[in-house]
Amino acid sequence: MFWHDDISLMDKKIKKIGVLTSGGDGPGMNAAIRSVVRCALSQGFLVDGVMRGYRGLIEDEVISLNHRSVANIINRGGTILKTARSEEFKTLEGQKTAVERIKRHAIDALVVIGGDGSYRGALALYQKFGVPTIGLPGTIDNDLHGTDQTIGCHTAVNTALESIDKIRDTANSMERIFIIEVMGNQSGYIAMEVALGAGAEDVLIPERSFDYDALCQHILEGGRKGKISWIIVVAEGAAKAPEVAATIHRKTGLEARFVVLGHVQRGGAPVGADRILATRLGAVAVDLLAKGCYGKAVGVLQDKIHIVDLSEAGTRKNPHVKEYYRLIKILT
Ligand code: F6P
Repeated sequence: MFWHDDISLMDKKIKKIGVLTSGGDGPGMNAAIRSVVRCALSQGFLVDGVMRGYRGLIEDEVISLNHRSVANIINRGGTILKTARSEEFKTLEGQKTAVERIKRHAIDALVVIGGDGSYRGALALYQKFGVPTIGLPGTIDNDLHGTDQTIGCHTAVNTALESIDKIRDTANSMERIFIIEVMGNQSGYIAMEVALGAGAEDVLIPERSFDYDALCQHILEGGRKGKISWIIVVAEGAAKAPEVAATIHRKTGLEARFVVLGHVQRGGAPVGADRILATRLGAVAVDLLAKGCYGKAVGVLQDKIHIVDLSEAGTRKNPHVKEYYRLIKILT
C-alpha cells in the first residue's frame, strides 16, 4: 500500500535509471556516477542525472546523461551532479513532490549516493512510495553499517594526514602543542585514522568521553620526560579545537595552537582506493536494479561486495576505537 494512488514503480519494468548525489560530497562520488551511468547504458537502460540531490529533485533539476557526460571525471573530486542537504525532502509534502518529479521524467529507479541522511531519503522513497532505490555509501565519515569503507573516506584521511605532517614540522621546530580539528560530527573515524597515521599523541572523538584534567596531566608528564611538541587530533563532534587549546593553556600554562582543517578534507582528487570502491559499487547498484532487487545499500565487507537492506544501513560506530586508542597510547 503506497501513498500515491496509481501503479507502483516497483511493478514496472525498468527502462530509465536516475542517479543523484546527496549530503556532504566526498572524493570518489564522480567515479561512482561514472560507473552507474556507463554500466546502466551497457545494459540498455537510459540514465538521468538529478542535480543537487533531493533538493534538485523537488525543484525538477533533471538532466539526461550519456557515455560522454561522465568522461574524464573518475579522477575529479566533488560531484558533477552537485549535492545539497534538503530540509524540504524530510517532509511528506517534499517527498510527494519528489515522487511526482520522478514520474514526470519517467525515471523507474534511483541510485542515491550519500551518507546516512541520504539513505533515509532513499528508504522513504522505497517504503512509502514504492520507488525502487539503491544506496551507495558516499561520505568521508565512514560511519555506515554494511560496509567497511565508504566512498571518500580514504582520500579524506590522506588529505588530513598531509596537512598534519606539515603542522608537525612547525610544532616540532617551535616546541608547541597543536590541536587539530578534523571532520566527524557523529563519527570519530577520520580522527582515529589520522591520529594513528600521523603519530598523534592523543585523540578526542565523539564516541568516547574525555577528561581535560587527565589530558593536561598527560601533557605535563610528557614535558617532564623531555617531550617538546604535541599533536592532538579532535573530531569536530567531540570538542571544538579553540576550546581545547584554551583549556589546555589555562590548565597547564603551556602555549597551545589550533588548526581547523574543515572542508579541505572533502575536496581533492580521489585516491585509488576511493575510485576503485566507487567503481565496483556503482556496477553492483545497476546489477541489483536489473535483477529487480530494490531498497538495498551496497558496500564491501572484507573486500567482498556486501548488500544490506537500506533500513539496516544507518549510522555505525567506529569499530576500531579500542584497538587504535591502545596503540596511540603505547606509541606516544
Ligand atoms: O558529510 C560529512 C561531513 O563532512 C561531516 O564530517 C561534517 O560534520 C559535515 O559533513 C559538514 O557538513 P556541511 O558541509 O554541510 O557543514
